[in-house]
Amino acid sequence: MAMNNDTPQHGGNLQQAAQTYGIPHSDWLDLSTGIAPFPWPVPPVPAEVWQRLPEQNGELEQAALNYYGSTALPVPGSQWAIQQLPTLFATSRVLIAQESYEEYRFWWQQQGHNVETFNALPDATQLRERDIVIVINPNNPTAQKYSLQRLQQLANELQQKGGWLIVDEAFMDATPEYSLLPSLQPEQNIVVLRSLGKFFGLAGIRTGFVLGNTCIQTTLQSKLGPWAISHPAQWIATQALADTHWHVAQRQRLLRASTHLQSLLVEYFSPDTLTAAPLFVSVKLDSDTTAQRWQQSLARHGIWIRRFPHWNRLRFGIADDTGLQRLASTLRLMDQ
Ligand SMILES: Cc1ncc(COP(=O)(O)O)c(C=O)c1O
Repeated sequence: MAMNNDTPQHGGNLQQAAQTYGIPHSDWLDLSTGIAPFPWPVPPVPAEVWQRLPEQNGELEQAALNYYGSTALPVPGSQWAIQQLPTLFATSRVLIAQESYEEYRFWWQQQGHNVETFNALPDATQLRERDIVIVINPNNPTAQKYSLQRLQQLANELQQKGGWLIVDEAFMDATPEYSLLPSLQPEQNIVVLRSLGKFFGLAGIRTGFVLGNTCIQTTLQSKLGPWAISHPAQWIATQALADTHWHVAQRQRLLRASTHLQSLLVEYFSPDTLTAAPLFVSVKLDSDTTAQRWQQSLARHGIWIRRFPHWNRLRFGIADDTGLQRLASTLRLMDQ
């Protein structure tokens, strides 16, 4: 399978879009990320939280334990863990979906591992000794969901061969019924990553969590140093994780917004090209030229979406009501 060796690109690059299209930063509707457009409402941060070093009082860890139902190591964004994990394993064959969050391929290759891609999860006959399989569930950018049963079976098969399963659940919060967390055993060969950037809309506080295997958590902890997560980030994360009423309302808001976005996009793209997750809708096109035409046309109207040139794919992040109306009227205008 062809491997893309470029440095990973990301959405949220409004500065670049503003320069390319000559539209001021503030006039854009940014749908290029999978970050919730209605974030957890951050209250004013007390002066002493800005001023004082964060002390390890266990409050964040307890809030995370309550929310995830499993011991979680707080890290400065799940991206930090994505970069660290390849350093913990001897050179391995690493398997990951062909279309997936590119940071994995990049960092595992940087560390000298052999990264191979799959279209469907490998079965027992395809696994070798000490393989590492990375699954993003739901996958970014394809929105594919993997069944719990299949992932557990894969983890067992890997365990027998001394391998590991890494599951990135950065986009899982709105659909906890698909999460591996309730079935995690501390000694199992599974690592799960979670993020406060997507569902909570708090990408700026750079806070994520590593769950699953205890040895991996302990090793990663020893690499963190004393104040890896800022005091304001810890203060905000602790409260956001504990706000159970908001979690319920946010799930409903996201599922509704995703449904509305799908209903709109299906007017312009064939239904079999659309796949949806609660935080984004993904469109597979016949060529990158078509994808580029859509991206450029929307960008001329100040709407920024994500294009994946190697995969002929576009990704629309969900919008609030105002954003959705703007997208709807722009698409109508472009269609004339
Ligand atoms: C699948 C996936 N995992 C992890 C991350 C990193 O998120 P963060 O470092 O903000 O927790 C991203 C960011 O886009 C992502 O798409």
